[in-house]
Amino acid sequence: MEKVMVVGAGFMGAGIAQVCAQRGYRVELVEVNPQALEKALAGMRSSVAKLAAKGLISEPAEAVLARVEPAEGLEGAAQADLVIEAAFESLELKLKIFAELGRLARPDTPLASNTSSIPIGRLAEAASHPERVLGLHFFGPVPLMGLVEVVKGAQTSTEVFERGVEFIRRLGKTPVKVEKDIPGFVMNRIFAAAFREAADLVAAGVVTPADADAGMKLGYGWNAGPFEIADNAGLDTIALIGKFMKSVGEDDLAPRSGLVESMVAGGRLGRKVGRGFYDYTPEGKRKP
Ligand SMILES: NC(=O)c1ccc[n+]([C@@H]2O[C@H](COP(=O)([O-])OP(=O)(O)OC[C@H]3O[C@@H](n4cnc5c(N)ncnc54)[C@H](O)[C@@H]3O)[C@@H](O)[C@H]2O)c1
Repeated sequence: MEKVMVVGAGFMGAGIAQVCAQRGYRVELVEVNPQALEKALAGMRSSVAKLAAKGLISEPAEAVLARVEPAEGLEGAAQADLVIEAAFESLELKLKIFAELGRLARPDTPLASNTSSIPIGRLAEAASHPERVLGLHFFGPVPLMGLVEVVKGAQTSTEVFERGVEFIRRLGKTPVKVEKDIPGFVMNRIFAAAFREAADLVAAGVVTPADADAGMKLGYGWNAGPFEIADNAGLDTIALIGKFMKSVGEDDLAPRSGLVESMVAGGRLGRKVGRGFYDYTPEGKRKP
């Protein structure tokens, strides 16, 4: 496999494109929003340069970035050996993208989604040759996080599933095999249950986000608290995941309060905009 197409150059797509390029793959990075693309390329340049300065990668940043080719549409899917979709968490949008990828990609090209909550089988229904559709659920920030859930949809062939596992190992990450296709897979279901309770307790005035985060770190050994994780993920994405969970009857996996939605409406989208449960400097450092 040589060429990977990544669809969406947001927080996750940019990170996925970067780690693929770092491992020597040529990457076509598809983004419909020119500003998002510009931000993604600048972020990748800075992240790769930092890794190179620390000696964690052996080639100069420019050599890595030279393997990333931006694009506006999906036409290049015909030349891709693997496609990873990381657009907004919207079933309607992803169905549209998978239908188009199904038409454009070679019939044996694996089509993966980085969805956080949507069952892979729903996306596979939209694409031709559904046996080549699988989940590759990366964790963010992708260049730093070692875990990827590899999800087998009801129709995913064992060969495609195992190719997904092997690809994740070649990226230097640890695959967790999810053998059954349920909304939110494994890690997000566990996190969503904890975050639902945490957000509802904050909404009810029982505890502050900072105290709840400190408690989960000191009491349960989490590396980051639920509100720190949510700010990093993006509260707009967290709200979309909650909306999807409720739409499929998984009400226990979304906050009952409208706290996150009201924060999103007020422009508090998390670390990426400098404001979420916490405030951040323009460099992304948390303000005291
Ligand atoms: N944020 C996280 O921590 C996280 C973790 C794991 C998985 N995910 C999942 O990854 C996906 C992306 O999340 P994100 O946080 O990067 O979102 P994001 O909002 O940062 O980025 C999404 C990007 O997709 C682009 N896009 C929209 N429609 C497109 C199209 N038709 N073609 C190409 N690009 C298009 C948008 O312009 C945007 O730049 C979602 O499915 C999300 O659930 C997110």
